[in-house]
Amino acid sequence: MKRTHTCGELRKENSGQEVVLTGWVDSCRDLGGLIFVNLRDREGVTQAFLDPDAGEELMAIGSQIRDEWVITVYGEVRSRPDNMINKKMATGEVELIIRKIDVENKSRPMPFHLEDDKVNEELRLKYRYLDFRRKSISQFMQIRHRLGKIFRDYFDEQGFLEIETPILSKSTPEGARDYLVPSRVHPEQFYALPQAPQQYKQLLMVGGIEKYFQIARCFRDEDLRADRQPEFTQVDVEMSFVEQEDIYELMEGALVRIMKELKGVDIPRPFPRMDYAEAMNRYGSDKPDTRFEMELVDLTDILKDSEFKVFSGNIANGGKVMGINAKGIAATTSRKKADAMTETVKSLGAKGLAWGKLNEDGSIQSQLAKLLSEEELSNVMSALKMENGDVMLIVSDTEYVTQNSLGRLRCDIAAEYNLIPDDVYNFLWVVDFPLLEKDEESGHWHAMHHPFTSPRADDMDKLTTDPGAIKAQAYDVVLNGTELGGGSIRIHNPEVQKQMFATLGISEEQAQEEFGHIIDALSYGAPPHGGIALGFDRLVMLMTGAKSLRDVIAFPKTAKATCLMSESPAYVDNAQLEELNIQTTAKKED
Ligand code: AMO
Repeated sequence: MKRTHTCGELRKENSGQEVVLTGWVDSCRDLGGLIFVNLRDREGVTQAFLDPDAGEELMAIGSQIRDEWVITVYGEVRSRPDNMINKKMATGEVELIIRKIDVENKSRPMPFHLEDDKVNEELRLKYRYLDFRRKSISQFMQIRHRLGKIFRDYFDEQGFLEIETPILSKSTPEGARDYLVPSRVHPEQFYALPQAPQQYKQLLMVGGIEKYFQIARCFRDEDLRADRQPEFTQVDVEMSFVEQEDIYELMEGALVRIMKELKGVDIPRPFPRMDYAEAMNRYGSDKPDTRFEMELVDLTDILKDSEFKVFSGNIANGGKVMGINAKGIAATTSRKKADAMTETVKSLGAKGLAWGKLNEDGSIQSQLAKLLSEEELSNVMSALKMENGDVMLIVSDTEYVTQNSLGRLRCDIAAEYNLIPDDVYNFLWVVDFPLLEKDEESGHWHAMHHPFTSPRADDMDKLTTDPGAIKAQAYDVVLNGTELGGGSIRIHNPEVQKQMFATLGISEEQAQEEFGHIIDALSYGAPPHGGIALGFDRLVMLMTGAKSLRDVIAFPKTAKATCLMSESPAYVDNAQLEELNIQTTAKKED
């Protein structure tokens, strides 16, 4: 007989019915004569039991059953007596008296307990198919599915077409290294897996598609962190005849709907906007977490004439001195903790961290008391609004290093001292990014987003005269300090695109070789267009509260870009390599 109900379905109303359930043995207890089996499938758990009336044969089968076996049980639903109702289970009002059991499959003892929250992640990833049986991972997958469906429905309603773009494609300049795929038919040539469908979606606009979206797989060979995977998914969008405002409106609509449907939360619109310079100045980040304060304070003016040359010398060289006030942490800030914070800022390129405590008794404990004049120290402390019990943390370096390192400390301290409120969702547009940034070592300009991003209309002529001053028509959408997505209005004039490549130091020949198809396409009546891509996995992570991207991706890679389950990447046969005209210098490990 086929299953009649799922394990999450039976209620009091089903009492007296004969039913068939099938699933995994979640737990099995033999209470001397009575055998209780909790049966689990994707929808839930139902308690079933065998009593001696079932007969010896059935009791014998029941006594052999072990966790994670797959069984089918046949029986009658019975209401539990009031004092036996289990309110923690959706099916807790009923139980099943088993009349027959089919053992569908046995299971070896599990490598880890499904209920155990502290299982080593490597073990979970090695047995990812078992990890899915844990409630949390299975729920994350269900939320991921719902999120995808909401996006698809939303973009469909808005008149967008979902179009798949190639996976075997050509290198795209999104800033990371490419994953390459050798071509057998064209020896020595390679496809690149797309870092994003950027060029294809622009070409679709030239083709007159007008509104495109795709839940697109992207591949980037970059240093991995908790919020990055080598293979990830974007909600990728492009539209013709639009300005920035249209993209904001479209995406806010999608995000507000998601928050309502998945979280039951109403997010006010329009989302706040902050320009890049303000975000860096106040929060030390281009993805500011505005759920808590501890903003950066610029101390440059106060310290520019200081006798303490570390500060004034840096300022004279165009650097900045900034600080934050970590309120109320003086009592718990030991030298050891300050040393750890110093290491943090050093890891971000800062030369050091100046710090000071204003103790509860009003005494100052800081090396700055010796290095600064009394007036400077007092001005610094009043600019930082220091009160008894506070700690000041000060960095003097280039503008970016100063802001970025204090921005990191700000977030670390907020996390450590639980300053971040729960259930607050701060969406924010960060706008007016610089178009280009300079690589200090090579002196070359790099596109801050990608080279197809348009300068602001009033900055166009600066491409040749003052590239560093150009603001881009680019925007990021941020949620609680995580960059959810980014996009821009694109260059649609082939001459501007050529000039952009020239400013980036790409020769005309190289531009033609690598991007000839884009320049050509722009020359055939390309409409004004723009778009955005959201990090789908990141959004799922934020919506589920998962701690890592790995938890919301079905079969993720480790920080070393390996799959512990299938053991990829892996060596391949020499024959396969030969066919691809590839010789490797690496030796196979036995
Ligand atoms: P960008 O490179 O900013 O823009 O990427 C868009 C969003 O994708 C997510 N993301 C990642 N998620 C997980 N792992 C990664 N390694 C990873 N890298 C990026 C982030 C990011 O905000 N083509 C442009 C978009 C456009 O201009 O329309 C692009 O890819 O959430």
